[in-house]
Amino acid sequence: MNIPLIKPFITQEIKDKVLEVLDSGYLTEGPVTKEFENRLKEFLGVNYCLAVTSATTGLEMALRALKVGVGDEVIVPDYTYPATASVAPIVGATAVIVDVSKKNMLIDYDALEAAITPKTKAIIPVSLFGAPLDYDRLNAIKDKYKLYIIEDAACSIGAEFKGEKVGKQADITVFSLHPRKFITTGEGGIVTTENEELAEWMNSYKHFGMDMTGASREGIHFSNIGTNYKLTNLQAAVGLGQLDHIEALLSKRIELANNYESMLRNVEGVTLTHFSEKETCASCSCSTKQCKHSYQTFSIFIKDRDRIMTSMREKGIEVQIGTYSLHMHTAFQNNSLVEIKGEMANSKWCYEHALALPLYNDLTEDLQKHIVIELINSLKSS
Ligand SMILES: Cc1ncc(COP(=O)(O)O)c(C=O)c1O
Repeated sequence: MNIPLIKPFITQEIKDKVLEVLDSGYLTEGPVTKEFENRLKEFLGVNYCLAVTSATTGLEMALRALKVGVGDEVIVPDYTYPATASVAPIVGATAVIVDVSKKNMLIDYDALEAAITPKTKAIIPVSLFGAPLDYDRLNAIKDKYKLYIIEDAACSIGAEFKGEKVGKQADITVFSLHPRKFITTGEGGIVTTENEELAEWMNSYKHFGMDMTGASREGIHFSNIGTNYKLTNLQAAVGLGQLDHIEALLSKRIELANNYESMLRNVEGVTLTHFSEKETCASCSCSTKQCKHSYQTFSIFIKDRDRIMTSMREKGIEVQIGTYSLHMHTAFQNNSLVEIKGEMANSKWCYEHALALPLYNDLTEDLQKHIVIELINSLKSS
């Protein structure tokens, strides 16, 4: 039996939409991309939504839009995908890496505040695996130190902070459409903001620096130095077909996560993450339970993780580490544009203990039971 970690949601309808675009001959960015942006804008409840080539290019564009560059510092968590931090040196700024909380794997807000210097211009907290960030804490820090917040929400389409979808809270929010995410366009990203000026600048930047406001009556005019981060009609057709089902896809993920939680709650050697504690809010300390995890990834902490991971894979069940601990990688060591603040003990612990379990739309409860039984067998065979 082979159970994958993820399976993109591709229906006949989606294939037909892609064929329609191919038949139209209009393959690059165009009306289908626009429709995809508009539908996402509506779903997220944001003012501006731009489709780009990836979350990585979206994060880089966000830093450029906020004029973050040489001499500036950008604080990021250690436990994340490298892109979160790499974009700072890419624009000439210094990535200042801080530890995460072991409770929820999100940036440690105290460590973040302690790392702020007069050079800090922006922070890029990550709503990892679909866990919403605590904007009560983040906004207090933002207001006190006058910083920009760019949320790396690569994994968080559909997550909510206090009843509001992720995408509205930060100055700029960036989502990924990579196939590991439950809405995918093959490669791709989404950038949202509530700020018209930032949206206009980014829209121009991703279109070669073109004036996109229609201000120029003489035809095309290039008002900025820009690049090409357009998402094609072809890719948008794939995303649109998934957006038609987004509410059902999200509900299914939450149902599957709840199943895992009840099956794993009393298993010795397994620790559920903080989000399983339904008595309290998922991310902040509110008691309203209005913060919603979107379960992009369902991960547990487990003893002897590497051995269990090998054993599960041998049984045909694709499991994966959570994510990376950046300070352990050469790219972030002895780099004049990277500063590692502290020991990163929690990040290293998460890196060594987190295990992501299969989660995709047509995963059944029976398959989940099978996965959990094999997990328990692997734990017992130590
Ligand atoms: C937290 C985080 N940030 C950024 C990225 C990069 O996303 P993309 O592949 O769309 O560039 C990923 C990819 O998995 C991610 O998990």
